[in-house]
Amino acid sequence: MTLVETVAVAIWTMLPAYVPNNAAVLLGGGQPIDDGRTLDDARILGDGKTWRGALAGTLAGVALALVLNAIAPAVGTATGLALPTFPPIAVLALPLGAILGDMLASFLKRRTGRSRGAAFPGLDQLDFLVGALALTALTVTDWFTATFTLGVLATIVLVTPLLHVTTNVVAYRAGLKSEPW
Ligand code: CTP
Ligand code: MG
Repeated sequence: MTLVETVAVAIWTMLPAYVPNNAAVLLGGGQPIDDGRTLDDARILGDGKTWRGALAGTLAGVALALVLNAIAPAVGTATGLALPTFPPIAVLALPLGAILGDMLASFLKRRTGRSRGAAFPGLDQLDFLVGALALTALTVTDWFTATFTLGVLATIVLVTPLLHVTTNVVAYRAGLKSEPW
């Protein structure tokens, strides 16, 4: 794989995992998933993790994966790049894993005394990535190992924090998010 192809495959493949958290910010709100319940005097997840955000985020990622599958042949022909298509389980595992990873991060933030919206550098940028990759590796192992070569994984780890920081700063400046992380 050329460098251009590696970067293209990395971004293409992770798009269904990048979109869910942004869709959750735009469309989330309402009933918190933990229903206000606490564990050792701190909320289990907090008011920032809602059913509507989790569902809308997952559905947005699924919809994007289906669109990418539909356009992959045409984009591949136009650019000369060998772009992967998502098997059905990956269509769900990438966005759902991203949402679950973000929830796990909030769980850890609450356990370490951080209130809603507090920054946890590193975790805030990589939680959804680890969740998406882990759930995909567990559920579609063959496709995962064939698609996520070492070069693709390295590109994802380098590019993701940059993309995440940029989109969050944009969402913050646009007044969609109360903190820039
Ligand atoms: N959101 C949601 N449901 C989710 C994830 C996010 O409704 N499953 C919405 C919430 O309105 C949340 C906003 O997106 O406040 C920003 O998401 P995030 O930064 O992940 O949450 P925080 O409010 O910062 O809370 P935490 O400290 O738990 O990360
Ligand atoms: Mg936050």
